[in-house]
Amino acid sequence: MSTLLEVSGVSVSFDGFRAINNLSFKIGPAEMRAIIGPNGAGKTTFMDIVTGKTRPDEGRVIWGDKSVNLLKMSEAKIAQAGVGRKFQRPTVFEDQSVFDNLMMAIKNDRTPWGVLFFKPKSSDNARAEELASEIGLADQLHRKSGELSHGQKQWLEIGMLLAQDPQLLLVDEPAAGMTLEEREHTTALLAEAAKTRAVVVVEHDMEFVRRLECKVTVLHEGSVLAEGSLDHVTQNQDVIDVYLGR
Ligand SMILES: Nc1ncnc2c1ncn2[C@@H]1O[C@H](COP(=O)(O)OP(=O)(O)O)[C@@H](O)[C@H]1O
Ligand SMILES: [Mg+2]
Repeated sequence: MSTLLEVSGVSVSFDGFRAINNLSFKIGPAEMRAIIGPNGAGKTTFMDIVTGKTRPDEGRVIWGDKSVNLLKMSEAKIAQAGVGRKFQRPTVFEDQSVFDNLMMAIKNDRTPWGVLFFKPKSSDNARAEELASEIGLADQLHRKSGELSHGQKQWLEIGMLLAQDPQLLLVDEPAAGMTLEEREHTTALLAEAAKTRAVVVVEHDMEFVRRLECKVTVLHEGSVLAEGSLDHVTQNQDVIDVYLGR
């Protein structure tokens, strides 16, 4: 298997507490991966490290065909290199339409000049419409984003991340606060995205993880406790003891 992301021997401590402890694992290109584990296991901190938000004390994070070390890059450079991250709280522009939010993400020229002289090209229009149908919001294009449901806002934000065409999409607890129907739609959307890029999903909802039908990495105390199919890891005695059995 070729590797898109390799985390190797990574550790980080906060005030003497080892949140990530000699963590090592790999993600392949166009792979869906679920990360599960108890609260405080280090799942979010792992994403903080990959995106450059938190700098580890030790270890390496190797990225892409050219095997570059992400730990030497700024958050902005890491994002430019193809790492996209979805936070738990949607950060869409509520006063703007779905279409305008997608267009902003497509352009993503954050310089003042880019915003000031922004003129949509017809290919950008088509791309916005394509993204809207990918996230199931084709019939909501001209709705004000603030009027969308919680689930729809989450999908819009995923669409805005997909507009950047990341090679790796990190998603932290996407199903939180969603109805069953919304969770099912989210699974489908992420599965579709994972056909052409790697998608790493942190999630507590086991039914959600089951529907992802992917390899699962279980974190505990900042290290990998078990890895494999969901059936494999849920039968692991250590996983039952520290996570499922509680
Ligand atoms: N910036 C930080 N400063 C201090 N402690 C932190 C920080 N980020 C995370 N931690 C601690 O690291 C541990 C792992 O946290 P986190 O990665 O958020 O876990 P998870 O997402 O698996 O629930 C927790 O004990 C948390 O309190
Ligand atoms: Mg977390």
